[in-house]
Amino acid sequence: MTLPRRLAAPASTWERDFDVVILGSGAAGLSAALAARPVRSALVVTKDVLSAGSTQWAQGGLAGVLDPTDTIENHVRDTLTAGAGLCDEAVVRELVTEAPKSIRYLMRLGAAFDPEQGSQDIALTREGGHSHNRIVHSGGDRSGAEVQRTLDESAIGAGVEVLSRAFALDLVLGTTSDGERQVAGVRIGQTNADGQLVSVGVVTARAVVVACGGYGQVFASTSNPPAVTGDGVAMALRAGLSVTDVEFVQFHPTVMWRGPDATGQQALVSEAVRGEGAILFDAAGERIMAGVHPQEDLAPRDVVSAAVSRRMAEAPGGVDDHVFLDATHMGERFYERFPSITEACREIGLDPAVDRIPVAPAAHYACGGIRAELNGRTSLPGLFAVGEVSSTGVHGANRLASNSLTESIVAGTRVGRDLAWELPDKVRPDPDFEDPMAPPLLDPARLREVRAVMSRHVGVIRNEMSLSSAAGALGAIANGMTGSASTSGESFGDPELGDKTPVRPSRRTWEGTNLLTVAVAMVAAARARTESRGCHRRTDYPESSDAWQTHLDVSLDAAGEVAVDGAPDAG
Ligand code: SIN
Repeated sequence: MTLPRRLAAPASTWERDFDVVILGSGAAGLSAALAARPVRSALVVTKDVLSAGSTQWAQGGLAGVLDPTDTIENHVRDTLTAGAGLCDEAVVRELVTEAPKSIRYLMRLGAAFDPEQGSQDIALTREGGHSHNRIVHSGGDRSGAEVQRTLDESAIGAGVEVLSRAFALDLVLGTTSDGERQVAGVRIGQTNADGQLVSVGVVTARAVVVACGGYGQVFASTSNPPAVTGDGVAMALRAGLSVTDVEFVQFHPTVMWRGPDATGQQALVSEAVRGEGAILFDAAGERIMAGVHPQEDLAPRDVVSAAVSRRMAEAPGGVDDHVFLDATHMGERFYERFPSITEACREIGLDPAVDRIPVAPAAHYACGGIRAELNGRTSLPGLFAVGEVSSTGVHGANRLASNSLTESIVAGTRVGRDLAWELPDKVRPDPDFEDPMAPPLLDPARLREVRAVMSRHVGVIRNEMSLSSAAGALGAIANGMTGSASTSGESFGDPELGDKTPVRPSRRTWEGTNLLTVAVAMVAAARARTESRGCHRRTDYPESSDAWQTHLDVSLDAAGEVAVDGAPDAG
């Protein structure tokens, strides 16, 4: 099976130049833009509108040590424990040390975090895997929306330019005078509000910051909004970079279950609800987490999702696709503490003050991605990666709750500040960057199949049989990508193959192709990792193995074949 090494699009007709171009407009991208802006021209490219990504939807909040009885060491230890042996301890310590500062920075920018009742102090709550209360929140469960609002206003106010409905297609590479490969810019597909192609252009820049988020939409059911389609990871693979730890997809244990046919983005029921004492029950009324882990319902997320999945497989009370979260002990206090979740419950006719909430695990967070330092630096000069798209060593095999917004602010601000101080040298794009070849694009009609395959075979619990079925099905879909778009944009389909179906360049066909690319990479890594660790759980290898306390790198070769590196030698 081969995957496209570039996204098909017509030749470019316009060009712009900036010091720094940032791909993605969530907490990480906007923090980077804001920090670079005082001395640099900075363009934020978003394929939709600024708030279309995951940040806007984050409920829990930001983790940071603000309580005098808590310590940096506690937060480090909790992060390492959740990460199941694959975190980089030095990077975790850097993040955790800067976390309180990053929260105070957001407050100085105007973010309003909820105070303790009857006090001026910021309220701190707890989520799975945390030994102390250390999560700041806003509007009850509207924490991400407040972070997004604050950064939108700050970045625009600082003069950051925004290019909306602009799809980052592929990196444009150049060569330095020393013969080294370096990023020279990015090809952009400008679309209309329906995602139809309007024009193609090139933004050249001395630094490209990828902050495109994760890839939850590769699964049939996810807490992620529709825009989260793995664009950054797929782009990096096509540019010849390897991506790390992509088998570790975190499934949130309590995503609202709205019936067997509900697909796409589902309402999250924040872990903070369990932080307030809510308890998981199966359909027969038995507790799920009692006796499974010392922290019971507040065990790390991978542990809870696996326990819920195992219980659903036993079909207690004849129910095998959801369980129940009971927060009725909160009574009407629930409405004020969790207004978004209250709204989502009411939409399905439930009152969380008196009813148990039906929930099931769903894809939530990509722990892996483009390998980068905490200041965003990657192996490709001029290319930086921050936020969920990156793999910095903070999250390991399973991210600790509410460390992600914190990481986005810390890493985004670091990369922006570093680029304010110093930019890479300018390189000219290679002359052949507009390859006349027209590689295939995925027909959006087949995306439903990709998602169904991933949810059926590559979910919370996996094994060689399920993963090889997924690989076969994805291979058939990839091999079926024939009728590709011509780069002239005039003729579509391959008549020699009898394919009359046009697969035109558009937001949907680019997103679909990116999702297929990420799905194939993820399955290859998940097959290679013959152990269970963090959020990668296999029934055929149920234990973690010391030999596997290592990272896997996935790359695309020149022909578009996936390769996995880093597995320990057999025997
Ligand atoms: C939640 O509120 O449960 C999600 C928080 C997170 O993913 O960090």
